[in-house]
Amino acid sequence: MKKMGSFRCSGPKMFSFLLICVTLWSHRSGSSGASSSRRPNIVLILTDDLDVAIGGLNPLNKTKKLIGDAGMTFTNAFVASPLCCPSRASILTGKYPHNHHVINNTLDGNCSSKAWQKSEEPHTFPALLKASAGYQTFFAGKYLNQYGHSEAGGVEHVPLGWSYWVGLDKNSKYYNYTLSVNGKAQKHGADYSKDYLTDLLANMSLDFLQYKTSYQPFFMMVSTPAPHSPWTAAPQYQNSFKNTKAPRDPNFNIHGKDKHWLIRQAKTPMSNSSIQFLDDAFRGRWQTLLSVDDLVEKIVKRLEVRGELNNTYIFFTSDNGYHTGQFSLPVDKRQLYEFDIRVPLMVRGPNIKPNQISQMLVANVDLGPTILDIAGYNVNKTQMDGMSFLPVMEGKMNGTSWRTDILVEYEGEGRNKSDPTCPLLGPGVSECFPDCVCEDSYNNTYACVRTIAPSSNLQYCEFDDNEIFVEVYNVTADPYQLTNIAKTIDKEVLEKMNHRLMMLQSCSGQSCRTPGVYDPRYKFDPRQMFTSHSWRLSRLRQTLK
Ligand SMILES: *[C@@H]1O[C@H](CO)[C@@H](O)[C@H](O)[C@H]1NC(C)=O
Ligand SMILES: *[C@@H]1O[C@H](CO)[C@@H](O)[C@H](O)[C@H]1NC(C)=O
Ligand SMILES: *[C@@H]1O[C@H](CO)[C@@H](O)[C@H](O)[C@H]1NC(C)=O
Ligand SMILES: *[C@@H]1O[C@H](CO)[C@@H](O)[C@H](O)[C@H]1NC(C)=O
Ligand SMILES: *[C@@H]1O[C@H](CO)[C@@H](O)[C@H](O)[C@H]1NC(C)=O
Ligand SMILES: *[C@@H]1O[C@H](CO)[C@@H](O)[C@H](O)[C@H]1NC(C)=O
Ligand SMILES: *[C@@H]1O[C@H](CO)[C@@H](O)[C@H](O)[C@H]1NC(C)=O
Ligand SMILES: *[C@@H]1O[C@H](CO)[C@@H](O)[C@H](O)[C@H]1NC(C)=O
Ligand SMILES: *[C@@H]1O[C@H](CO)[C@@H](O)[C@H](O)[C@H]1NC(C)=O
Ligand SMILES: *[C@@H]1O[C@H](CO)[C@@H](O)[C@H](O)[C@H]1NC(C)=O
Ligand SMILES: *[C@@H]1O[C@H](CO)[C@@H](O)[C@H](O)[C@H]1NC(C)=O
Ligand SMILES: *[C@@H]1O[C@H](CO)[C@@H](O)[C@H](O)[C@H]1NC(C)=O
Repeated sequence: MKKMGSFRCSGPKMFSFLLICVTLWSHRSGSSGASSSRRPNIVLILTDDLDVAIGGLNPLNKTKKLIGDAGMTFTNAFVASPLCCPSRASILTGKYPHNHHVINNTLDGNCSSKAWQKSEEPHTFPALLKASAGYQTFFAGKYLNQYGHSEAGGVEHVPLGWSYWVGLDKNSKYYNYTLSVNGKAQKHGADYSKDYLTDLLANMSLDFLQYKTSYQPFFMMVSTPAPHSPWTAAPQYQNSFKNTKAPRDPNFNIHGKDKHWLIRQAKTPMSNSSIQFLDDAFRGRWQTLLSVDDLVEKIVKRLEVRGELNNTYIFFTSDNGYHTGQFSLPVDKRQLYEFDIRVPLMVRGPNIKPNQISQMLVANVDLGPTILDIAGYNVNKTQMDGMSFLPVMEGKMNGTSWRTDILVEYEGEGRNKSDPTCPLLGPGVSECFPDCVCEDSYNNTYACVRTIAPSSNLQYCEFDDNEIFVEVYNVTADPYQLTNIAKTIDKEVLEKMNHRLMMLQSCSGQSCRTPGVYDPRYKFDPRQMFTSHSWRLSRLRQTLK
């Protein structure tokens, strides 16, 4: 099969751009590619800030039926970083943040920066699918938060790897936004029938499915800003969930008294205005998800009508979780707890039996390797840190032979800045609410090992702050993470987790996939820990005294 090469299309009008591309491409490729290949198509639907821990899937009944029930639902899916840009970079590159170097949502932190464009963008999994695996690729929606920034090439920059490109300029919006349609700016206003972004992304995806070439397999990534703020619902959904409030789980509106500094500064109980705000936000999030549910249904139906559903893998997931009131933090992500690092993940596809639930530990760094594996591309040829979970979905892998540890890394925002609304807390804090609850700070910088093995469900985290604070949770015994057991857990387990964290923080490629603490093949050599990391361990011991 002929490769797509660097051909890129452009079209003056929204709905004709695909048609023009296809016509040109058919002309260029002649008729050599008649469809004999049955390589599967792949669709990735990525939502923004969709949790799984606080009810985020509730409004998505059609999605659960059409993707989850038709395939596999993962109950232990995590992100490598609970923030949009680093997480999206992990999805695209298959790497942990310490290897892709996108550390926050700003250009300085490499979010869509020139350095990212030069060193990482050419190696993303869509770029490999297009250049080496013969796929036509389509992107529509939010990419990396700073995409479109004038210092990063503006909307003229079309990332390598995409045959058809519809990229949202900068961060999440529902109306009054600019799209890059194959490198040309297209401005949108606030007319529901023409501009509501979730619906427009659905329409453009349907157009792609209608007009793409038929002889090449395709990869389609649809990336909705929903349910991210500003939570603008479609008109028909503005009155939905009228009586819904954020869940009052055991960790709602309580003081995280044995947690790190940032959590301890949150005021408890929360002010009434904060509670009002978070309940409204919660409702708004669910309302915007009803349009996402429609989008999923439209895409699945169109694939069915075209006879392609049975040869298409469909992934549904999110870039990070979310919280509304947990440990008295009003609304945001960026924390190490389950509500922020756990995400939904459902996949259907040709070799996946329906109605399956998998408890295997998977992470967003695995999406690229899995999709490349489906496309028949040897993941060992890449630098990716994640691993393909295709064998899990095909029933060829069981609990005893699957990995048990993943890494979560986060670098707090707010360095060298003072939040004018919170002078009391000094410089270095950010995301502050009017009543001075700050949800981030430069020293909210941490790394965790999240372990899920048949015999254990643990989280071990270390902070890069003045206290080298440590948090440990036994999620089996304490699913709401109410009690930090750093000072009471068996010291041997603690040292092993500390060792494992240091290995993962410096891992790359294959070394990120080595046996975890609860794997019988794990070799723990305390001498190695003492010699190479003695400074850190002694500080850790201080902390735990
Ligand atoms: C989804 O289904 C559940 C269970 O049947 C139901 O309680 C809920 O109201 C449904 N959600 C929507 C948005 O229809
Ligand atoms: C940005 O990415 C480049 C290239 O990977 C790297 O050299 C640089 O250190 C990164 N910047 C930050 C702040 O991590
Ligand atoms: C869109 O922009 C118009 C004109 O500036 C403004 O009146 C309107 O309120 C905006 N709507 C939204 C939803 O942002
Ligand atoms: C999407 O397509 C439908 C059907 O053609 C149309 O009614 C709707 O207005 C379109 N919405 C947007 C935002 O383009
Ligand atoms: C806050 O709400 C609670 C419960 O609804 C109420 O009892 C209390 O008086 C309110 N406080 C203020 C300051 O409005
Ligand atoms: C997939 O569906 C198409 C159209 O309905 C049908 O022709 C084909 O035989 C199906 N293939 C498989 C593997 O079920
Ligand atoms: C990839 O590398 C692993 C570990 O070295 C090996 O077990 C596997 O067979 C390799 N896969 C391919 C397709 O080469
Ligand atoms: C799990 O997989 C391993 C390795 O493939 C195999 O030896 C073992 O019998 C399997 N166990 C179960 C319960 O299927
Ligand atoms: C993002 O990271 C860069 C590099 O460390 C830093 O200069 C910048 O201040 C960070 N941005 C925020 C908002 O913290
Ligand atoms: C932030 O402040 C530190 C210490 O004051 C300084 O060394 C560093 O250069 C500053 N970074 C930036 C990006 O301004
Ligand atoms: C974190 O930073 C804040 C703001 O600079 C400071 O007040 C606090 O003491 C720091 N905490 C730790 C544990 O480093
Ligand atoms: C975690 O809690 C479970 C259930 O209480 C217990 O069986 C297990 O030993 C605990 N694990 C650790 C490492 O403390």
